[in-house]
This record gives sequence, C-alpha cells and structure tokens, in this order.
Amino acid sequence: MANILIIDNDSLICDRVGSVAYQMGHQTSCAKTLITGLRKVQSAPYDIVFLEAQIAGRNSLEIMPKIRATLSAPEIIVITAFGDPDEAEHAIVNGAWDYIEKPPAKEAVKLTLIRALEYRAEKSIGKPLLNLKRNGMIGNSQRFNASLDLLSQAAGSNANVLITGETGTGKELFAKAIHANSSRASQNFVIVDCTSLPETLVESVLFGHTRGAFTGADRYQDGLIKQADKGTLFLDEIGELPLSIQKSFLRVTQEHQFRPVGGSQEIKSEFRLIAATNRNLEAMVCQGRFREDLLFRLRTLLIELPPLRECREDIRELTLFYMDALCDRFEIPPKQCSLEFSDVMTKYKWPGNVRELIQALEKALLAARDEPMLFPKHLPTHIRIQVARNSVERAPAVPAPPEGGAKASRTLPDLETLRKTTSSEMERTYLADLFAQVGGDLKKACRVSGLSRSRLYALRKKYGASPKS
Ligand SMILES: Nc1ncnc2c1ncn2[C@@H]1O[C@H](COP(=O)(O)OP(=O)(O)OP(=O)(O)O)[C@@H](O)[C@H]1O
Ligand SMILES: [Mg+2]
Repeated sequence: MANILIIDNDSLICDRVGSVAYQMGHQTSCAKTLITGLRKVQSAPYDIVFLEAQIAGRNSLEIMPKIRATLSAPEIIVITAFGDPDEAEHAIVNGAWDYIEKPPAKEAVKLTLIRALEYRAEKSIGKPLLNLKRNGMIGNSQRFNASLDLLSQAAGSNANVLITGETGTGKELFAKAIHANSSRASQNFVIVDCTSLPETLVESVLFGHTRGAFTGADRYQDGLIKQADKGTLFLDEIGELPLSIQKSFLRVTQEHQFRPVGGSQEIKSEFRLIAATNRNLEAMVCQGRFREDLLFRLRTLLIELPPLRECREDIRELTLFYMDALCDRFEIPPKQCSLEFSDVMTKYKWPGNVRELIQALEKALLAARDEPMLFPKHLPTHIRIQVARNSVERAPAVPAPPEGGAKASRTLPDLETLRKTTSSEMERTYLADLFAQVGGDLKKACRVSGLSRSRLYALRKKYGASPKS
C-alpha cells in the first residue's frame, strides 16, 4: 500500500484521482493549497504526489524541489491543463515523474500510478541489509554470496521477486529468508504450490469464495491471496500456473484487489509477491504458455540460484552441517567424514543439488550404522559410479600410438555395437541422475524426462534403477 497526496484546489479532481488510488488499495489524502500540501509532505512520508500545475493563479511547479527534498522524496505527477504542451514539458523538465491532462481519465491515473510505484520499488532495491539473518542458509562461495546480496536487497524492499534455479537449489529457503528479513516478518508467509492447484478450484483457492458460490460452499472462505494480506505471498513453481488464471492474477499483482468467487465486492490484500520456478519462463513465453506481461511484473528483482556443482567450495560446509543435524535427528552419536568421502562428495555433480546432498547423507549415515567414520562405500551406488566414471573419462580414451608412428593395434568394436553400448550407458547414467534429481518422485521423473510411466518402468527394469536408490 502506498501513500498518495493530491494537491489541488479543485475538489472534483481530488475526488477522482483519490478514488482511483483508493480502489487500487492505496491510502490517499488531499491538500487544497500549496502551503498545506507542502506541510503534509514535510510531516509524513508519501510515495506519490499528484500536483495541479496552477493553483489559484500560482505556478505550483515552483514547489517541486521542496517536495523532492523531503525524506521520502515522493515521485511527482503533474496535472496539466488540457492541450498545453508547454506546461507538460515544463513539468517534466522540472523533474516530474509524469504528467496527466485535465480532466484526468481514470485509466490514465491508474497507469501512471502503477508505473511510478514500480519505479519506486525498483529504486528502493540496491540497499543491502547490514545484519542479514541466514535462516539456515549455508554457503560462502562467491556465487552463493552474490545470491545472498540480492536476497538482502530484496528483503529491504517491497519489490516483486522471481527466484529461479534447478531443483533443490534452495528457492523456497530463499523465499522464506526474504520474508524473515523483511519488515513483514511478523505477518503470514503463504505458500501457493502452483503444481497442486486443482484446475476446477484454482480461483476459489486463490481468491476465496462466498457462501453458496458453488455446490458445497457452505460458508465464506478467504483465499490464499487474502491470507497473505500484509505478509508475503510465495507462488512456488509459477510456471505451472494455468494460462487461464494468469490474466486475473496479473491484475491482482497490479491492483492488489480482486473479487472472491461468487462475490460482488472487490476485496484488498496488501501482499508482497515472491515467485519461484525451475522452468525457463522466457521459453514458455515464446511458446505461448506464459504471459509476457506477467513475467515482466514478476521479475522486478531476479535471483538466479546457482547449481551446487558451481559452488563446490560450499559442499564441505553443507556436508558437515547436515551430518550433525541428521545425527541429532536420528539420535545417533556424531560421525566424522573421511578424506575419501569428502573427495567423492566434492566431485559428484549433484543434479538434485542441496536436496540430493541431504538425502545422500541420510543414506550414508544409515548405511554406516555404528561405524564412527563415513567412507565412500556408504554413499548410494549411483554417486560412486558417476564419480568413478568421470575420473576414468578424464584419462585419455585412446592410447598413444606406439613409437615409430604405427597405428594402435587395439581392436575397435563395430559401429553398431559401439552405438548400442554408448546409448545404454547414457541411458543408465541419465536414469540414475534423474531419480536422484527428483528424489524418487515418479510423477516428477515422468515430467522432467518426458517419458511415460510405463516407459520409465521398463527402463528401470532394464537397468535395475530404483527410484528409492
Ligand atoms: N544453501 C543452503 N543451505 C542449507 N540448506 C539448503 C540450502 N539450499 C537448499 N537447502 C536445503 O535443501 C532442501 C531443498 O531446498 P528447497 O526446497 O528450498 O529447494 P527448491 O529450489 O525449492 O527445490 P524444488 O525446485 O525441487 O522445489 C531443503 O531441505 C533446504 O533446506
Ligand atoms: Mg521448491
């Protein structure tokens, strides 16, 4: 919610601009003279000031520097006489954000207000917090610290944030940390999992419904958006938001008000929006599966979380932290990790990122039982295989020709056999990586791989890969 001041001696204009801003969920007040207007901006913080260019024969633009010099430095939108380009130019030259002509059309007021507020939100980004609460986030590599800087900037502003990154990189953890470090920390953090929004109920889940809106609606029910009022609304897996709902949601992000299913009155919710996805939204826009205007709104601030394999320096700290935490959880004495164990942990590519690392540690701790030290043999087989294969692949594949320039006398397989073995090996590695990445979730595995359930079962049977391994 923003604070808007309208300085104009014409009550009609005050009412018209004020009611548009009020309907958009903002707090408005009016001043009929330049002196009262100035006094108001000097005594309370305002985000936007609508300023009539001429008030009682006086050129109001003269007070613009004084308005801008106040602590909240509001953006100024000048209301100019209809068809007076000189006045409009004068306003812009003097540092106005925009101008609108009299009588101000509702749509013009709304648009300029949205843009000015967006601009302010973006401007407020860039002031990192000094004492960031880590909220369980481990990592000090350069890539990770760069993400923490962005997190800190996001926490200090109200701008929309889009968090992208592969599965398990910590998108949800980051979203929670932004909320916990923001001024909204004491309010609700509401998660909307867009993958599990039932197609038929999506609107009532998000917007709520009135009594009798549909069969079974026996009482009024707030939707998730209203529950996030004054807090943070976290739209997880936003790429899965049905196209049909994207349009109405875009409006909610702009105006912060909406109509519950079956309701005739609009209600307001002053939420802060964070969205996350591991999908490529730009590509989805090109394919017509995601609205471009919604994407633009979502990513006022973009945080691209790096995959764990690009933050190798963090693997040791993560391992030690989660080994302790898991030993505590399993109520077993703390264990040590051998050099060889750390070596495999650092070399593995972690397609499922931190989530996969935690799951691998869980398995290793259980496999080690009473042994006080972890060794590579305690890790799931597919991890050891990948590391072993990579180290072999890095060695030269073809032996150097013997001295004297004669061709190597090794026997080459025929091309068809080579093709078959290579493709089987690729499939086997892919399958192991796939199940590791999705953490054993077969439905997700089908989605990521694009394979049908029966095809996946067949491949698992062929290679003995288990989603639980
Ligand atoms: N930097 C980190 N420090 C400590 N724990 C982390 C870190 N990043 C992720 N985790 C942990 O890894 C697990 C996965 O994180 P999270 O659920 O936030 O990932 P995600 O990116 O939302 O994954 P998905 O796309 O699959 O939903 C959680 O248990 C989280 O606590
Ligand atoms: Mg997630």
